[in-house]
Amino acid sequence: MASRGGFSSRIGFIAAAAGSAVGLGNIWRFPYEAGENGGGAFLLVYILCILLIGFPVMVGEIAIGRSTKRDAFGAYYVLGGWKWSLVGLWGILSAIMFLSVYNVVAGWAFVYFIQSIDGSLLNIKNFGDHFSNQISDVTDLFFYSMGFMVITGLIVAGGIQKGIEKAAKILMPALFILLIELILYSLTLDNALVGVKYYLIPKFEDINLKTIYSALGQAFFSLSLGMAALITYGSYISKKENIVGAAAIVTAADTAIAFLAGLLIFPLVFSQGVSPSEGPGLVFVVLPSIFASMGTIGMYVGAAFFLLLCFAALTSTISLLEIPVTFLVDEKGYSRKKMVLFFSVLIFAVGIPSMLSQGAVDSLTSFAYYEGKTKAVFDVVFDIFSDIGLPLGGFLMSLFISTHWKLTNFHTELAVGNPRYPGSFVQKFLSFVITFFAPLFLGIMFVTTVLHKFFGITLI
Ligand code: PHE
Repeated sequence: MASRGGFSSRIGFIAAAAGSAVGLGNIWRFPYEAGENGGGAFLLVYILCILLIGFPVMVGEIAIGRSTKRDAFGAYYVLGGWKWSLVGLWGILSAIMFLSVYNVVAGWAFVYFIQSIDGSLLNIKNFGDHFSNQISDVTDLFFYSMGFMVITGLIVAGGIQKGIEKAAKILMPALFILLIELILYSLTLDNALVGVKYYLIPKFEDINLKTIYSALGQAFFSLSLGMAALITYGSYISKKENIVGAAAIVTAADTAIAFLAGLLIFPLVFSQGVSPSEGPGLVFVVLPSIFASMGTIGMYVGAAFFLLLCFAALTSTISLLEIPVTFLVDEKGYSRKKMVLFFSVLIFAVGIPSMLSQGAVDSLTSFAYYEGKTKAVFDVVFDIFSDIGLPLGGFLMSLFISTHWKLTNFHTELAVGNPRYPGSFVQKFLSFVITFFAPLFLGIMFVTTVLHKFFGITLI
């Protein structure tokens, strides 16, 4: 399969995988999840989820991808036959659905970036109203979300090395520098320290079942796990690479960026005396009002922030689009460019109901959920294909490795490119997590989250 292409180097893979991981999840979602679930308490549980579940699942996905050098469906099919290939298909479907909503949020970031540069964001009186108007403005949404999808498509059409790897190598360092500059600024504001304390000092009484499943869902979202993104990227890395080492760097980079995003946002939020539990609007309502209060400099800070959000989102949308594209290129031999066009149009179209469910169309905004409760289609899609679907994908992957592919084959793959792996502590740790801890914990969390989200039943 010489024509399939691949990452040029270890650093190319790491940049692309870290690019996939670092996204809206870190900068938009992590702070509001932390703000809604107790700040420091959430941060603590989140880090445990990353270490004990996220990292092992990431290693598992990359190993499956590299050992087969096939797309998610093909990888499961080669190793496990048609029944297991359904897990791969579920991942591909999740990627399509997930990207359809993710792209909507990326569109919001794009609008806010443009409004920051042209200065119009500075003149807004009520940012809450502005956000609600903006997310129900059909013309803007169409235009900006489509713009985002077109940019994503153009990069993916360029292929693994010339498109994805190149974009990630430029965008990722730029993002990091922007983030550090913004943090240095936010720490100088009055009351910044109260925000830092809220974020860093956990209150153990705040930890409950919701904290745990929210942190777990966030860990999967943020590390791009459970939907075959890393099986797909893993399929493009060379046998010379050390998978465990690469996964450790990607995990650390993703966690560091989420952590830094919190360190940027909580001081800003507390310096303004606003509540940290604003929900999905946190970044779009609270932050612009803070930027506006800074005067002209706020315009630059705001533009830098939203540019950063767009960069982060772009390297993630790229990896999401690559999943179905690799699938049909590998399985059917279709051309990459045609598949990019096909899936970009399809995914954009699938996202339209979600796009219109933020106030534009009433029936989509208050969509039936469980009895007596309605939710926007946007949230339903995220519930199914993110909070529930991603840990489910991780659960099925661990079952697959332990019951079908078998630990010995898994370990053999990990030893390729990493001679020190056999007999190491990491090997024992991964065996334990993949065979016992992940299936048990993810299984329980799956049931809990479904009961909570779809039936309104809270166990603890
Ligand atoms: N990890 C990305 C983020 O944090 C989202 C993502 C999830 C990308 C799954 C690819 C696969 O925004």
